[in-house]
Amino acid sequence: MIVVGLPDKAVAESRERVRAALSAIGLTLPPKRITVNLSPADLPKEGSHYDLPIALGLLGAMGVIDAETLSAYLVVGELGLDARVAPAPGVLLAALHAAERELGLVCPAAQGPEAAWAATVEVIAAPDLLSLIGHFKGGAPLTPPQPGSADLPPRLADLRQVKGQETAKRALEIAAAGGHNLLMSGPPGAGKSLMAACLPGILPELTPAEALEVSMVASVAGELQDGRLLRARPFRTPHHSASMAALVGGGLKVRPGEVSLAHLGILFLDELPEFQRTVLDSLRQPLETGKVTVARANAHVTFPARVQLIAAMNPCRCGHLDDPALACSRAPRCAADYQAKLSGPLLDRIDLHVDVAAVSAADLVLPPPAEGSDEVAARVAAARAIQTDRYADHGVRTNAEADGDLLDTVAALDDAGRKLLAQAAEAMRLSARGYHRVLRVSRTIADLAGAEDIGRVHIAEALSYRRRAPVN
Ligand SMILES: Nc1ncnc2c1ncn2[C@@H]1O[C@H](COP(=O)(O)OP(=O)(O)OP(=O)(O)O)[C@@H](O)[C@H]1O
Ligand SMILES: [Mg+2]
Repeated sequence: MIVVGLPDKAVAESRERVRAALSAIGLTLPPKRITVNLSPADLPKEGSHYDLPIALGLLGAMGVIDAETLSAYLVVGELGLDARVAPAPGVLLAALHAAERELGLVCPAAQGPEAAWAATVEVIAAPDLLSLIGHFKGGAPLTPPQPGSADLPPRLADLRQVKGQETAKRALEIAAAGGHNLLMSGPPGAGKSLMAACLPGILPELTPAEALEVSMVASVAGELQDGRLLRARPFRTPHHSASMAALVGGGLKVRPGEVSLAHLGILFLDELPEFQRTVLDSLRQPLETGKVTVARANAHVTFPARVQLIAAMNPCRCGHLDDPALACSRAPRCAADYQAKLSGPLLDRIDLHVDVAAVSAADLVLPPPAEGSDEVAARVAAARAIQTDRYADHGVRTNAEADGDLLDTVAALDDAGRKLLAQAAEAMRLSARGYHRVLRVSRTIADLAGAEDIGRVHIAEALSYRRRAPVN
């Protein structure tokens, strides 16, 4: 028995698994030369999910199962030597694809609840090969699986825990409301990581369509647990030792990277300057286009990557640049070295730059703030609702995604506003991208205030979050 059609090692080995699985249920392959052809022949095949289709193909050819019946199904699954059907990544995607082509789906029992999310598909979730044969021969039909639950995970942290830091909290609210990128910079222990952890709790939950989109990426990465659909926005926090393949995808198997797993959610890069420079710069393109393409020798794979980048950093190595009492002897020189690890183009993509100052003891002993994540989440939801209405016909979700003509119409300025922005753009030497990003943030600030038109106050606030010239 040979497998042709550019199989990788895992696919080529399926030969052995299939043979063993068939003999485990008492079937022997006919004593003939068997060729399994994976078509199209020039597309490399990776992964273990070809086992079950190969086995069923053989059973069809041997006449154990009716081959005609089989042709109405799309099949994914790995086989154990004992003929058990084991989970394989990408089942949700396969189910949606089957729905498009009006086919049924045969998948591992453990992933039935995941596949069942593609509502219109007949799903056969098989625990093992024998029960599958029983099902197709009509003796013992398998019960169709129910869609898994879609629970919201518990909140990581609440804004009520954060004392002081009013500016940073406001910036967090704006970022959440419009889907803008945010960089927090400040001394150690000021609450940067804590505030970032509050963000998932103030973002609106995913709509059903978005949940399916996000779960699809997670499914391809094999990260969907018990078929539970993800309803909370993804919050990915890769460590700063992450490689380029881990962040943008690729590697041995073309697997989605962190930036894709964070699709429609947050990519939180803590200790930003500690990341490798090339790795950070590889984010430039996905941040702009909302997708990432991994090029292989003979195939290109595109994953969605519409993320909101949240980053945190210390201003210098010791972290106390702005505090003469604590700063090291090399300040402020060392800050330039430390911050130079971040490229200008990356910083230009960040809409909101905030300095998070150390909290004073006087602030820390105060009672918790009256406002927590619930109140902020309500305002964010209201601002998001305005955007959903506004962009309903434009295929855009948030202000951060509005572009070109659309941006010009939704963020139209009056004369006073235009003058202010023009002057500021000149004085702050804003790039064209920077100019448009200020417009988008102004739009969000106006939305948060419930204002129809963008006023000077909104533009002024948006400008205050723009990056200032680097220290040197
Ligand atoms: N503003 C604050 N209000 C209340 N507690 C705070 C505040 N800032 C920090 N803390 C406390 O300090 C802990 C550490 O804060 P956090 O990890 O957010 O600091 P950081 O700014 O990320 O520091 P680093 O730069 O070292 O990463 C928090 O878990 C929290 O208990
Ligand atoms: Mg931190």
